This record gives sequence, structure tokens and C-alpha cells, in this order.
Amino acid sequence: MSTPAELRAALVDQLTGDGALTDPAWRAAAAAVPRELFVPEYFLPVPGSAPTAYRPVLNGASGRLEGIYRDQTLVTQLDNHLSPPDALEPVVGAPSSSSTLPSLVLGMWQRLDVEAGHRVLEIGTGTGYSTALGAHRLGDDNLVSVEVDPQVGARAAQALKAAGYSPTLVIGDGLAGHADRAPYDRLIATCSIRHLPLPWLHQVRPGGKILTTITGWSFAFGLALLTVTGPGSASGRFLPGYVSFMVARPHDRPPRQPITLLSGDTRPSRIDPAILGDWTGKWVAQLAAPSAEIIGAGDQQILVDFATGSHARTAPNPDGGWTVTQRGPLRLWDQVESAVQTWQQHGAPHQEGFGITIDGDGQRVWIGTEAGPTWDLPI
Ligand SMILES: C[S@@+](CC[C@H](N)C(=O)[O-])C[C@H]1O[C@@H](n2cnc3c(N)ncnc32)[C@H](O)[C@@H]1O
Repeated sequence: MSTPAELRAALVDQLTGDGALTDPAWRAAAAAVPRELFVPEYFLPVPGSAPTAYRPVLNGASGRLEGIYRDQTLVTQLDNHLSPPDALEPVVGAPSSSSTLPSLVLGMWQRLDVEAGHRVLEIGTGTGYSTALGAHRLGDDNLVSVEVDPQVGARAAQALKAAGYSPTLVIGDGLAGHADRAPYDRLIATCSIRHLPLPWLHQVRPGGKILTTITGWSFAFGLALLTVTGPGSASGRFLPGYVSFMVARPHDRPPRQPITLLSGDTRPSRIDPAILGDWTGKWVAQLAAPSAEIIGAGDQQILVDFATGSHARTAPNPDGGWTVTQRGPLRLWDQVESAVQTWQQHGAPHQEGFGITIDGDGQRVWIGTEAGPTWDLPI
């Protein structure tokens, strides 16, 4: 049986070989941080389960260490409270804390463009694994990490101590940043946000950078790298790839009300509704109808704005094409359809064709350049 050190070295070799780990300083951090201290026990999804069930992998379970050193996300909490030892058998739940897969964590640290001596604010300590990598690279004094969940934060604090790291750990809402240690040169978020919190834009110094995933209530994601251009303002671009993180708790969608889909105004759809199954197609739909949740699939899409009861649903016609039925004060499909057509007219780029600007007029996502088609983020 391999030792943790051997498994860790093999993972570092694999990530280096894959091209995920290119920076020698981050390679040294990955080689040094024992992930097993941060994720001693975890949940793994049960293949083929729907809704997804998670089976606990506890101390003593066969394959536990090998799982820790696989390049995979290890869920450590479900539904904001359930830890692996609380579950004796597979359970259905929504992941609320995890150790993100090492290639992504290290990829994000590398993309943040940090240099020795930079002061960094991390949002979403989680297990503390990514925090330990940061502390190894930057030094304890240069890293502040904020976790909203006190139990998760307490476990991370213990693990960091056991691994020999002592960055500043804060329990609280990371959307407020941590003013006491500002200004920061960099901010990295390992939870997603619906819009940029203003405290971040004041606590990161002008010229400093923010790396975060931006999401919405339909859980479409784009990873953005912004440069702060002045107090309260920033601009940047979305990056290539497919990165998603659990949503920051205060930005999560409100509890759903039961809703009955009623009849409404019916007309032909001008776009194939299945485009909402595309990574960026869904993102465009979410930009266009931020108050809605997209809950359909394929060409049978359902969009619901639970606050107003507005809804739209699409269906294929037996002889080709699609019909949309809309009801309520918001014409959700009109919003989505027009945005998707605009995106398609601009070549239907992946998120890396999009950028973001934040200034006194609000927060805008655009295609191509600031003069291109633009959508306001909900604030
Ligand atoms: C994907 S996990 C973090 C992964 C972590 N960096 C690691 O490598 O182990 C996301 C974390 O963000 C936390 N979180 C959610 N909303 C937050 C908020 N508003 N402020 C700070 N942390 C938050 C969650 O509790 C969860 O632990």
C-alpha cells in the first residue's frame, strides 16, 4: 500500500504531466501540503443516482487515501450541516462545503498571478486545503481566509494548525471581505457570487486583481479575472474553461414556492430551446433573465421567476419547431430569446469572449468589448 507522501508525489507528477501545474512555486506547495489532514473523511457521489446520493468514506474505509489523492472534488458537507460521520449510508443532499479538485485549486492560484510578498484575501476556506497551499506559497502573514460556516471553519483551523500553517482565519460572511487587514493585492473566491460585493472592490487596492466565478439562480458559471481600476470599480475578462463553485450563501436563490404551471400566451419560439443545455447558452439565458430559475431540460425548458410567479415553458411541435407559453408580468422567454439571438449573431463565443465592467453605473457583462451587447448583473 502506498504512503500519503508517495500518493501526493504521484498526484503532483500527474498534474505536472497534464499541464495543470506549471509554476514551480505552486508545484512545491502541492508537494508539501498533506491533503489527508484537510479531508480525512468525505462524501463521494453514487454513480447513476438521481437525484445524486452521496456515500460517506470514513476513516478505515478501503480506498480512502487513494480517493484523497485522486484529482477529484471531495464533498465534506451536505445541506449546510451534514458531515460524513453523520451519515451511515448514502444520502441525498446538496453539497455545501468541499475540497475542490486539486487541479482546479492550483489552476486558480496560478491564474491569480500572485507574487511573493502579495497580500491575499481568500473567500471560502472550506477544508482549508487551498488555504494551506496559499500559506505555503505566500507565508502565513500574507493570507487571510474567510469561511461563513463556523463548524467548517473550526475544522479547517485545526487542520491548518496540524499541518503547520497559521494564516489569519475569519469566520463570517466573505462577501463583506475583511477590512481589518486591507488593502489586499489579490482576492480569490472559491464560492460563486451573483455580483461583485462592493467591499471587495474597496479592499483590493487599485491595480490589484480579483479571481471569482460569477453565477446566478440558474447555476450557470463564468470564471472572471478582474483588475480593480479605482475604489469601487473594476474591469476584466472571463477565462477559458468550465469552472463552477457552490454559490456564496447570501447570494443563493431564495427558497422555492410550489408553483403550478398555468396556460398563458403561446407563440412559436425563434430559438431552439435546447441551446439552454449548452454551457454558455445557459449563461446567456441567465444574464438575460437573472430573476428566473431554469429548471427544464432539452427542448422542454421551464423558466420560473418565483417572486412574481412569471413562467415560460417550451415544447417541441410534432411537425418541427417549438412553441413557447408565457404567463405573468415578466416575459421570460422574450428576454432569453433576444439575448441568445444576439449572442449567436456575435458568433456564439464561449465565456472567454465576454468581459465585465463595474463602475458607478453598475455591473455589466458584455460580449467582445465594452461597446458590445451588454447585460446588467442583478445587484
Ligand atoms: C468549494 S468550498 C471551498 C473549497 C476550499 N477552498 C478548499 O479547497 O477546501 C466553498 C466554501 O465556501 C463557503 N462559503 C459559502 N458562502 C460563503 C460566504 N458568504 N463567505 C465565506 N465562505 C462562504 C462554504 O461554506 C464552503 O466551505
